[in-house]
Formats: sequence, C-alpha cells, structure tokens
Amino acid sequence: DLGDFEHYMLKEIFEQPQTLENAMRGRIDEDEATAKFGGLNLDPQQLRKIDRVVLTACGTSWHSGLVGEYLLEEFARIPTEVEYASELRYRNPPMSENTMIFAITQSGETADTLAAMRECKRKGHPTLAICNVVGSTIAREADGGIYLHAGPEVGVASTKAFTSQVMVLIQLALFLGRMRHLSYPAGRRIIDAIHQVPDQVRKCLECNDLVKEISQKYCNFNNFLYLGRLYNFPGALEGALKLKEISYIHAEGYPAAEMKHGPIALVDEETPSVFVVPRGQIYPKVMSNLEEVKARKGPVIAIACEGDRKIADIADDVIYVPDVDDFLQPLVTAIPLQLLSYHIAVQRGCNVDRPRNLAKSVTVE
Ligand code: F6R
Repeated sequence: DLGDFEHYMLKEIFEQPQTLENAMRGRIDEDEATAKFGGLNLDPQQLRKIDRVVLTACGTSWHSGLVGEYLLEEFARIPTEVEYASELRYRNPPMSENTMIFAITQSGETADTLAAMRECKRKGHPTLAICNVVGSTIAREADGGIYLHAGPEVGVASTKAFTSQVMVLIQLALFLGRMRHLSYPAGRRIIDAIHQVPDQVRKCLECNDLVKEISQKYCNFNNFLYLGRLYNFPGALEGALKLKEISYIHAEGYPAAEMKHGPIALVDEETPSVFVVPRGQIYPKVMSNLEEVKARKGPVIAIACEGDRKIADIADDVIYVPDVDDFLQPLVTAIPLQLLSYHIAVQRGCNVDRPRNLAKSVTVE
C-alpha cells in the first residue's frame, strides 16, 4: 500500500525513523550500557574469543559492511574485513580459528552471499546473518543472526535496509566492544547518541522539498562524483550507487582525498560533485578537497551540518543534516543522498521502483 506516496522508494525513505526504532527495539541494555541480541547462538566465552570478523555482502549491503568494519575496529578493536561475497566465495583467504563471519543481506536470498556463507560455514567458522527477510534461505542456514525488522522493502533500490543494517552494526560493535575495551561511560555515550537517531532522521526528511528543487538543477548532467571520508566514504559509495541504479547516470564514489590521484581529471563544469562533509574529525581536510574541485569549476552539492555557514559560501548547493557523532553520520546523510537520487530519477522519467536490468534479489551468480 503506497498511501500518499508516489513510489515505494519514497515511502520507504520516509519510513526510516520508524524502521530505525525497530532495529533498536529490545536491543539496548541500559543498565549494562551495552546491546543484547536474542539469536546469536554463541555464548559469551565464544564471543570473547573472536579475534577477527569478516563481513560479506553485495551491493548496498556491502556498503553497510564497510561502515561495519570502521565501527567494529573503532569500538571493539576487532580486526575486520569486508569482502564482496562474489569474490570471497572463490578466494581462500587465511582465516584464524576464531574468525566470525557475518553475511549481510536484505533479502536473504542473494546467491553469492549464500555461497560465501556456506563456504565459511563448511570450514567451521561461526557464520551469522544480518538479514531483513524472516525465514529466508540465508537466515535459515546461518548459525544465528540479527534481523533488521525493517518490514518489506519493495523498491528495488535499497534504502531503509541500508540504514537498519548500519544501526544493527552499531549495536553489534557496542556489544562486542563492551565485552572488551569499551568502558561503561563510553557505552553510555553511544547509547545516548543512538537514542536520538530516529528523531534526527525525521528532521533530515524535512529537506525533501529542497532536494527536489536542487534535483531540477542537476538532473541533466551525465556524470557525478560522490566524495566523503571516514564514515562518509561508504556513504559516498552508497550515494553513487543509488544514483546509478535508478537514474542511469554515471556516478563514482571515492574517498575524498583519493580524488587527486586520478578522478580529479574528470572535474569540469559538467561534472557535479556531491560532497558528504558533515562536521567531525576530518572536516577541514574534506573542505580543502572541496575547494580543489571548486577551483576546477566543478559544481558542488554539499551535505553538511546545520549551522555550517562557511560551506554555503563555497558550495553551489547545501543540504543540511543534524550535527551527530562521526559514527552516526552515514545514517543522517543517507537521507538526502537517497532523496537526491530519487528526485533526479523522477525528473528524468525513470521507473524508480523497478529500474531496468535489476531485480530485487539476485538469485543467480
Ligand atoms: C542496491 C541494491 C543491491 C543490493 C544487493 C544485495 O540498491 O539493492 O545492490 O543491495 O543486490 O542484496 P541483498 O542485501 O538482498 O543481499
């Protein structure tokens, strides 16, 4: 049921304050300042021994995995790798005995993710799933896992599943971190911050009209760059993928500072860059990357923090999001990025819910 929305994609974008609540419900242990999960099926001794995590997935789920890598290494100090499932299934990377595998998948049916998971399971690693569709093949075959509880995602382009995956990974990193180096006050700070996310995402959705206006200006360009650093690098990759798949515009995501090692050659008046540049540890560095693009006459759309006045003087268009901790930036910045690709695709007359050549779950190799 679409309700008042024109497309499922837009409806699902607007569901995110609720789906993020659902991804947290019953999982925050306020007393112990940690998270808890019902279905990991591993006891604390086993979990404590984990010395490496491999996250495997495809597409958008791989992007949330990349956020997961940063989170698990920062909060839990567990060496983490994120692997394309299609590569992992045929590679044979060395894995310590205590490597834990997480398959991340909205549908639970992606052929490559399933195959990669089976290969790891066969080798005897604890193999879990972060999955949306209850009772899907991957959910059934995993040793345990965490459901997203995001409800059915109908639009082919993944939106709410991405933010729910990130929210689950934050809680996983908190949980594994609290079993290791993360102190009670540090756990508390993380919990206090994530409680605010659904409202902050609701706030982000207020940019919809502005993003629609901006999209009119940019819908006829044929090449885009998406740039961000640290937690916003996966966000940039995801923003670029969203634009490609539903508007058929060529877009590339890069860590902003990599730009000068090649992609900057693409910058001209006809190649807009979307800079994901909220305030945080590395803000001044990203700003200097942004200025390099402006100096070459590249149009810039910036996703920045509320109250950032400086950016308005430099970027051509600015979409503001609430100022949040670095690790939460992929959640708030996802909203304008999703809306931008949605509105550009609508302007171009594309079928946003059912883009050409794509299927909702990729059950072939
Ligand atoms: C992008 C998209 C795809 C999927 C990928 C994995 O919007 O939807 O890239 O993310 O096919 O699908 P799942 O998560 O179902 O394994």
